[in-house]
Amino acid sequence: MKVYEIDLKLGASEPFGLWHISDSHLCLADERDNERKNKLAESRGISFTGGHPERILQYAREQFEAVRESGDTLIYTGDFCDFVSEANLDCAKELFGTVDAFVCAGNHEFSQYVGEAWEDEAYKAMSFEHVKESFPGNDIWYSERILHGVRFVAVDNNYYYVLPEQLERFRKALSDGIPTVLCVHNPLYSENTYETIMKGKAPDEPPYLCGCPYNLLLNLNDHRRRQQTTNDVTREFVDLCESSPNLKAILGGHLHRFASCTMNSGIPQIVAPGGYANEVVRYHIT
Ligand SMILES: [Fe+2]
Repeated sequence: MKVYEIDLKLGASEPFGLWHISDSHLCLADERDNERKNKLAESRGISFTGGHPERILQYAREQFEAVRESGDTLIYTGDFCDFVSEANLDCAKELFGTVDAFVCAGNHEFSQYVGEAWEDEAYKAMSFEHVKESFPGNDIWYSERILHGVRFVAVDNNYYYVLPEQLERFRKALSDGIPTVLCVHNPLYSENTYETIMKGKAPDEPPYLCGCPYNLLLNLNDHRRRQQTTNDVTREFVDLCESSPNLKAILGGHLHRFASCTMNSGIPQIVAPGGYANEVVRYHIT
């Protein structure tokens, strides 16, 4: 297991350790799901691991065991499951039941067959309650928690937007002076984040960032441009993150590679690598 060790100064009441894992993309299915789902499980598992699909679960177990042994909390920023299946959700329920975890959902958490449909609130609603009950003690859409004097807020932004209720709840959370960390699946746009993650990529490759300015999406195909275009509420959410003195860091996933970036405001944005490749982040927080 590769562990990226990061020091984060957040203004905690005492030093503490914290794990950050994302994007395990579990690809399990069994007789409870149909043949299409079982075939999807096989092909997706092979593509994530270069032909060793059994490693995904093996690595997840190894990572959760390390978290459990440390006694520290785990921040999980989405895509534990690659698609909705009974076997994937059973595994989520089992592993998340063994550690103290704070979770936001990823886009794949609600994916039925991966890329087969336009993903919006109606699509998410098909599986939301079933998925949510597989992450014990977590809301997975919006939740807050204070650890050693630091407030962690998990916001589901995995379709590149937030909803007005999430914006207003987050605005309220940022108003009382407690140092706050935002946990999201899709990293937020900032100039540095965009430069960092686009380095070496062709200009028509999507940035996969929430809040990306429209002029940076012009080279994308129609589907990706429409998917990643920022609406007004989401623009306000990103602006709030850039202007709030109480926001101290952003933790994200989704990109399947580790990245240490900064927002325009100067706060860190850390992107966790793919858990399926057995890479995780561990923070030493003060
Ligand atoms: Fe992912």
